[in-house]
Amino acid sequence: MELTARLRVLAELVPQDSRLADVGTDHAYLPVWLILQGRISRAIAADLREGPLGRARETAQQYHVMERIEFRLCDGLSAISPEEVDTISIAGMGGETIASILQDAPWSREKRLLLQPMTSFPDLRGWLQEHQYRIESEHIAREGNRLYTIWVVKGGRMEPLTPAELWVGRQTGTDPLRADYLNMMEHKIRRALSGMLASKSRDKTQIDLLQQVLEGIQDMQKELT
Ligand SMILES: C[S@@+](CC[C@H](N)C(=O)[O-])C[C@H]1O[C@@H](n2cnc3c(N)ncnc32)[C@H](O)[C@@H]1O
Repeated sequence: MELTARLRVLAELVPQDSRLADVGTDHAYLPVWLILQGRISRAIAADLREGPLGRARETAQQYHVMERIEFRLCDGLSAISPEEVDTISIAGMGGETIASILQDAPWSREKRLLLQPMTSFPDLRGWLQEHQYRIESEHIAREGNRLYTIWVVKGGRMEPLTPAELWVGRQTGTDPLRADYLNMMEHKIRRALSGMLASKSRDKTQIDLLQQVLEGIQDMQKELT
């Protein structure tokens, strides 16, 4: 079984012998791959909908690991108790959905969280910061011409993030894809800015903020070179 680059980067962040819950598991590729690799012995695979959970069962059946996975039909972590897990992955969902899942399970602060949001990055980073979660590290995966970020998060305080850091994360200078990621985000912000500048109902506060974000990203790009 082969994982895509995004799930592979995420999988490598799961410690050996973790007790994992994969929330929004869909096809359950992540827990099944981890079990096949011997990284974990069991997992909980949870999803909000019956269709994806059916796909998860099919994958587990195909790879003969049915008895190693518990399937839970539930919203977020609602049918998972803190004692059952030490690591939680929530991948391939919007930032708002991830924040709402964590909001409903404050005990998640005591766990190792592996988050891979698809949208609303600044909102999710801001939400984590306000709710006593700390982003320990960020990792980047490339699939074709798309770049994804995967965050390792735990409970705790983090130094307040600047407007640019809310958009692109804190610079650690260690990820080989960071420069490409910053270029992609710079392009995105420039596009958003020119849309705003061209619009009749200009929101000056929003424009100033995005300009600040753009400058922050450019500083980070200089720092990298
Ligand atoms: C795009 S798939 C991602 C699958 C897999 N995690 C991945 O990254 O490849 C998103 C999955 O999240 C599930 N989902 C969305 N909101 C959810 C929630 N509140 N609780 C649990 N699962 C949810 C959807 O049903 C869907 O199966």
